[in-house]
Amino acid sequence: NLPASGKSSWRSPSNIALVKYWGKRENQIPANPSISFTLNSCFTTTTVSYEKLKEKQHQFSFDFLFEGSPKEEFKPKIQTFLTRIQAYLPFLTEYHLVIESSNSFPHSSGIASSASGMSALALCLMDMEKELNPTIHLDFFNQKASFLARLGSGSACRSVEGPLVQWGSYRGIENSSDLYGVPYPYITHAVFQDFCDTVLLVDKGEKTVSSTVGHGLMHHHPFAEQRFQQAHSNLDKLKTIFETGDLEGFIQVVESEALTLHAMMLTSSPYFILMKPNTLTIINKIWAFRGESNSHLCFTLDAGANVHVLYPAEEKTVVLKFIKEELAPLCQNGQFIEDQVGTGAIKL
Ligand code: PMV
Repeated sequence: NLPASGKSSWRSPSNIALVKYWGKRENQIPANPSISFTLNSCFTTTTVSYEKLKEKQHQFSFDFLFEGSPKEEFKPKIQTFLTRIQAYLPFLTEYHLVIESSNSFPHSSGIASSASGMSALALCLMDMEKELNPTIHLDFFNQKASFLARLGSGSACRSVEGPLVQWGSYRGIENSSDLYGVPYPYITHAVFQDFCDTVLLVDKGEKTVSSTVGHGLMHHHPFAEQRFQQAHSNLDKLKTIFETGDLEGFIQVVESEALTLHAMMLTSSPYFILMKPNTLTIINKIWAFRGESNSHLCFTLDAGANVHVLYPAEEKTVVLKFIKEELAPLCQNGQFIEDQVGTGAIKL
């Protein structure tokens, strides 16, 4: 039996996709497989305190606090999430939940907190399930946490574990699934084990088009089928690249994926642009720097204007000097976040 009250806290990282998830079917089933680096320093910390209600409710009873203050505007998203997962955690309506969340990265920095936020919340709720079923095996715990996180925000299912997580049925990985992320099962070259990601905060404003709308526009997109096939072939290419440590190949796949994601936005109906002028200036500066140095830095983009600069840890001194001198002035208030590949969520 679940105790009358209790508390659970998790810290869950953000992730950055190398092969992008863009387009989905019913129930957050991805239209194509994706793979991401789990990050380390960009994370959400969430505590769920639960207390048994006198009577089981039909509606969820919960409060949400963000960085210490009640945040009513986030409640509908959590309400939707709880409704979607109710069938998998039926005991939830017997409890009043207080959900307290905070991010390690600046609020409204343009860094999506849905992946880290939804996975941290899913993990706290899985702790409640574990109170009910103490014999739950760690693999099942992580798998179900990822499954639940997916129902909050698709990419959140890739934030439970690390350092590389694959989501979506893909012929190259036997245990891959559309329902949850799985840690990449093959040995990867040492260079990818401590890869760095410096996140350049180009635009901190609200996105003009949400990911949900963007995914929806892939339904009648003229290039959808080719794009979904391309994601599979880029995963095939990455499989060899991860094994051999082929950095040139890595750069090609990762930058092409980022530009293809935005090309899908440019060619949707209606079309839209999430990059800003400085996004393009930064990309051009990265290409110029790569041409004139021996560096293996590359860029990737999420559904926004910010640029993730990816590079091997051993090139950190050189690349960070370039970022500080040439790229930081193109960021809002000169802001960037130094991050690197991480191992996944931590129970606090
Ligand atoms: O998880 P969502 O629905 O916010 O979609 C995120 C999609 C991208 O960040 C653009 C790509 C990805 O795979 O993370």
